[in-house]
Amino acid sequence: MTAPPPVPGTGPDGLSASAGPPGPPGPRTGHHTRFDAYVDRYATRTRGMTASEIRALFSVASRPEVVSLAGGMPSLSGLPLDAVAATVRDLVATRGATALQYGSGQGEPGLRQQICDVMAIEGVDGHPDDVVVTVGSQQGLDLVTRIFCDPGDVVVCEAPSYVGALGVFRAYECEVVHVEMDGQGLIPEALRQALARLAEIGRRVKFCYTVPTYHNPAGVTLTAARRAEVLAICADYDVLVIEDNPYGLLGFAGEPPRPLRADEGGRVVYLGSFSKTFAPGLRVGWVLAPHAVREKLVLAQESSTLCPPAFSQAVVSAYLADHDWRGQVKQFCELYRERRDAMLEALTEQLPTGARWTRPDGGFYVWLTLPAGLDAKAMLPRAVTARVAYVPGTAFYADGFGSRCLRLSYCHPTPERIREGVRRLAAVVERERELRETFGAGAGPPHLETGYESPTPDLT
Ligand SMILES: Cc1ncc(COP(=O)(O)O)c(C=O)c1O
Repeated sequence: MTAPPPVPGTGPDGLSASAGPPGPPGPRTGHHTRFDAYVDRYATRTRGMTASEIRALFSVASRPEVVSLAGGMPSLSGLPLDAVAATVRDLVATRGATALQYGSGQGEPGLRQQICDVMAIEGVDGHPDDVVVTVGSQQGLDLVTRIFCDPGDVVVCEAPSYVGALGVFRAYECEVVHVEMDGQGLIPEALRQALARLAEIGRRVKFCYTVPTYHNPAGVTLTAARRAEVLAICADYDVLVIEDNPYGLLGFAGEPPRPLRADEGGRVVYLGSFSKTFAPGLRVGWVLAPHAVREKLVLAQESSTLCPPAFSQAVVSAYLADHDWRGQVKQFCELYRERRDAMLEALTEQLPTGARWTRPDGGFYVWLTLPAGLDAKAMLPRAVTARVAYVPGTAFYADGFGSRCLRLSYCHPTPERIREGVRRLAAVVERERELRETFGAGAGPPHLETGYESPTPDLT
């Protein structure tokens, strides 16, 4: 095979090239590029592994002069760090020989019991034997997809969907079918239609992945009535449900919504995490799964990491046992509610007509739809120049849709910074709108000239 000439910026196989190390010494076989000498060695599945739009943004968005409304980092400033430090010191001094040792592939039994107590707050009745501790719920997603999905298998998920889940599905070469949402979450009728269509053409759906509560990125919550409908539809079509619930305890009003898993044990695989209620740096999450699935997950976990980190588990376990962690979660809720309010008020005051957005009852995110004709991805460089960052909506779709939308996070910046960020964003949106009004579609990004515009389901 003749090697194609290297193309600056991309590898010949469509992978984006990186300025990696020069080629290894000795004779070279196959083709290579100036940018990536290993390009002809990668497995086919790496083609789906491209930097997410969030990743590409991080270097710019983390500059102090930029107000980042992009990342989903929890605010840790409220954590009692001195008390946590004392717990960690004590842990190493008194139980270091076990806390720093390898542990069980399923996770420590004591922590698994505590996880069941945490889930019980939301009404989930799980048994510690059915819990597998993971390296964040992100690894839970990875293990679940690994044990269920072969290349080409269909996974159904919301439109839009959590970008990290889409990355996992891509890495395992799944085909993602998006199902529409509105202000009340996933639309049951749309789910039924999608499953019926897939059944008709003989495609087996491996699972339906959903974030029913305080959705990332949409900021909406599936209503109680729809929860029952979604479960019934998945039962009709014999489809597993993967319920991802990292934000359930971070609500701003009343009791947390009842997870799907609380009402259906046999069909729902539930993912939880301490990243948003305690500390993402510890990387402790979990999966609660039907017994047989749990067996496979433990095998997959063992081949992946041998065991989840014993030290992180011990820190989480001690934190849950020795601190008023529920009081801390309440404080987080207050903090995020104040920030949500600051963002919604600023959006109402500043954004031009034609823009609309969701009003989250919990979690970290607002989903914003721009005035007709605007493109959030094309606008991003202008926004970053104006010192505000967000995540363009296309990051949350497997199929390139979502161009008119963007995700705003209010979890990390202070209310003052949020207001300033929205003020900057509003100015950018206004300018884009004026340009478009003055020069028409030609002022927009190239694909708008074709008249094509992504569907923008009304989530508000
Ligand atoms: C919906 C959703 N699932 C999973 C994760 C991953 O979280 P973890 O830190 O537990 O891996 C996130 C993180 O933002 C998320 O928003």
